[in-house]
Amino acid sequence: MVFFRHRRLRRTEGIRDLVRETQLLTTDLIYPIFVKEGLEDKQEVASMPGVYQFPLHQLVDEIAEVEKLGLKSIILFGIPKEKDEIGSQASCETGIVQEAIRLIKEHFPQLVVIADTCLCEFTSHGHCGLLKGQEVDNDTSLTRLAEVAISQARAGADIIAPSNAMDGYVEAIRQGLDQAGFEDIPIMSYAIKFASSFYGPFRDAGESAPKFGNRKTYQMDPANRLEALREALSDEKEGADFLMVKPGLAFLDILRELRQETKLPLVAYNVSGEYAMIKAAAQNGWIDEKAVVLETLTGFKRAGADLIITYFAKDVAYYLKEEG
Ligand code: PBG
Repeated sequence: MVFFRHRRLRRTEGIRDLVRETQLLTTDLIYPIFVKEGLEDKQEVASMPGVYQFPLHQLVDEIAEVEKLGLKSIILFGIPKEKDEIGSQASCETGIVQEAIRLIKEHFPQLVVIADTCLCEFTSHGHCGLLKGQEVDNDTSLTRLAEVAISQARAGADIIAPSNAMDGYVEAIRQGLDQAGFEDIPIMSYAIKFASSFYGPFRDAGESAPKFGNRKTYQMDPANRLEALREALSDEKEGADFLMVKPGLAFLDILRELRQETKLPLVAYNVSGEYAMIKAAAQNGWIDEKAVVLETLTGFKRAGADLIITYFAKDVAYYLKEEG
């Protein structure tokens, strides 16, 4: 007889529990939060049901819920009232992100607050760096992004997460943080960030769609695997403390391969379009939302992610508590 009885290990729930290789934990999850300056009441993002833009005065209640569910970290995105060419509000001491960080740390000192470091929500043109003519200029953007990171650290951010996709941002931000006395603040680099159509709903939430052109001269071509690995490894050399792969679902092969190339903690971003697809299908009654979400996020971990940024974080924390 040459066939194997794999089903022996699937016979009862107890045995299946014993041999399960991957566990999804609430502590693996990072919850994204959008704060918008000057908003009166929280506002649901049309393309992301269940995700809101929050005004500062409703933030504490929201974070209290996040903490109560057992989540340990959030990533913050801000939408300012005033946008300009250089995204001045991104590094302003009284900017929306800086105010939000201070408020959150005052009420929830234990929560890990990650600041997304980019300009696209703050610039009038919606690009992630500074313009020279119609081009996004790499090197002048670096100086500007370091200023943003320093101001976020000064406000109390625990981790800086640059998502701007310029070359050399890890080195520039590391140097800036060190010189400002923030040698202990880690950098979670969006190291492998593809120019993806899955970011569509996020640009509604962050009000950050580019006003002309696209992001293909700075974000990566989804067709490229070796280039992705080169870029992640250069970020590691520049001093990144975490490496991220984004989006997640269409790039699980990259996550798996990066796992074999680095010893750094890996983060997968389960992006807005992935969230929107599951929500839309579930709302139509076409899939079982809870089961699909758990299967998807377990897949990220199995592929090699240590941490997952996901708009489903609160839901999953609740599911896991329920089953606990
Ligand atoms: C850019 C940024 C983006 C996302 C996180 N940071 C969008 C973009 O590059 O246009 C996307 C996240 C998502 O789609 O959930 N600052």
